[in-house]
Amino acid sequence: MCGIFGYVGQRNDAGSLVIDGLKNLEYRGYDSWGVACKTNGKVTIEKEIGKISTVERADFAQQCSLAAGHTRWATHGGVTKLNAHPHANSNQTIAVVHNGIIENYQEIREGLKQKGHSFVSETDSEIIPHLIEEYMKETDDFASAARRACKDFDGRFGFLALNTESNTLVAARRGSPLIVGVGKDGYFIASDIPAFMEHTKLVQYLDDGEMVVTDGTNIIFSDLETGEEIQKREIEITWSVEQAQKGEFDHFMLKEIMDQKESVARAVNQNEDQIITLAEAINNAQGTFLVGCGTAAKACMAAEYFFSVIAEKHVNFAPASEFKLYHHFLKPESLLIVVSQSGETADVLEAMKIAKSKGSKVLAICNVEGSTIDREADYSLLINAGPERAVASTKALTGQMAVLMLIAYAMNDKLREGQKLLLETSSKINDMLNPRYVNFIEELAEKIQDKSDLFIIGKSWNYPMALESAIKIQEVSYVHAEGFAGGELKHGPIALIEEGTPCIALVGNDEVKADIISNAIELKARGGFIVGVAPENNEVFDVWIKVPDAGTAQAIVNIIPVQALAYFLAVKRGKDPDMPRNLAKSVTVK
Ligand code: AGP
Ligand code: GLU
Repeated sequence: MCGIFGYVGQRNDAGSLVIDGLKNLEYRGYDSWGVACKTNGKVTIEKEIGKISTVERADFAQQCSLAAGHTRWATHGGVTKLNAHPHANSNQTIAVVHNGIIENYQEIREGLKQKGHSFVSETDSEIIPHLIEEYMKETDDFASAARRACKDFDGRFGFLALNTESNTLVAARRGSPLIVGVGKDGYFIASDIPAFMEHTKLVQYLDDGEMVVTDGTNIIFSDLETGEEIQKREIEITWSVEQAQKGEFDHFMLKEIMDQKESVARAVNQNEDQIITLAEAINNAQGTFLVGCGTAAKACMAAEYFFSVIAEKHVNFAPASEFKLYHHFLKPESLLIVVSQSGETADVLEAMKIAKSKGSKVLAICNVEGSTIDREADYSLLINAGPERAVASTKALTGQMAVLMLIAYAMNDKLREGQKLLLETSSKINDMLNPRYVNFIEELAEKIQDKSDLFIIGKSWNYPMALESAIKIQEVSYVHAEGFAGGELKHGPIALIEEGTPCIALVGNDEVKADIISNAIELKARGGFIVGVAPENNEVFDVWIKVPDAGTAQAIVNIIPVQALAYFLAVKRGKDPDMPRNLAKSVTVK
């Protein structure tokens, strides 16, 4: 998500260089940006909310050889210019950019206030330059004061600090990545390699619990606790920029599946007043429609069940491309909830136009801030999933479902309960997506990679996930996959089942569990090879993919292993999961 980039050395265009580097980190997703430069001996800071892509490097052409910049993803304090990083100390000699969370920042801030420090932002990060300044009163060594400050911090963080007096950069990490780029005329420090790849491919990795300090000529790595010096090898990287943006993953699709360890929690991190307002708008509307396309449409279908079970509200889903004839129902008191990752899908825009022509209000749930749908809606919520680059939508789906579920809870005055459930679900996803689990899914893909047909069944909110599973498998592996409501099998599709036909059953510990298990038994009786995605094993399963028990959020969890299965099926079948044939990431034509 957020990005850090700094430089110190013999070049005098450090400000422009940092701006360019932050633009290479845009794919990580963020809501504001800022750069601190040392000019005329002091820190000057430029920062703004919104996208850095519009900033001209020439705006930072002043002579500067020491600079640090940041793209922020707000966690503590709203998306405002004052909360954007960098943050400076009292006398503007230290500037800091920070990724992560300082969990005990309030008590530290209170202590600093009693010593005369004043703060201008709501963030946790702003305490860092002030605490370093305080400790420099005891030791005038910048790195030692920074190390001492780190001992006070609880939580996971990575920060980069510049000091105009010592003309140095200091970086420390405990849980949030930082890498050093070894330039021919100075050192780069960034949260991700693409920031400085155009300048150098020589890197030195800062590991957790370590600190680095450099003046652009010399560099010292040390243990964050003891201060003991650490020797670091210089490593030459051979990746392209795009490969670097994938990190350790071979494809964006797998990276984005794994991003779900964090993205569901980010979806939940919404402005509570806004959620409550939207819940009231839906409760007060006379006729609410959920509209989307493809994967986003499946989030809408799942939300029909969320609104029914959680909010006891009847909300209709319609595929955006089928919405035209629904205009007869629409009136000014109607509400259209449109869900779209890209915010540019033509069919959805068309549905919005129809609704607006009847005076209805539109709520958009998007992933791309400033997209057409985001801008043209009457109300808008962002799912904060970070850029989704793979054509196959994965983390956007679970983010969309999380936001829709949160609204459903708020509609029944249970927002806190919804937040708690979804944050617990997020941490269960984090635990689930471990290397052993992913390998297990890859092995299953290996086993069924040559099958020409694959069926998926689900019931209630797992029915839309059965349909979504089919889209995922179809679009990246080109295997013929079909999703069904479990109860519909005996009305036709079961004729397709032969010996060894792989059938995935999506199961939850809910009131329809017995039904979907009996549907699986019907499939098995006709030779189906049953893959159960369930919190508990069952004798009908030939393979059990264990998922956490997530209660009403079970659909959010159940789809994730199937996303991974689709990914590995594509790779095993020699396809490029990121660029599937015939498909575009955003369908901007009707
Ligand atoms: C999803 O994997 C597909 N690429 C596609 O169905 C997509 O969900 C659909 O085109 C809607 O896109 P949107 O969410 O950007 O509106
Ligand atoms: N917690 C800090 C803030 O809210 C840093 C957020 C980030 O990682 O970008 O400003």
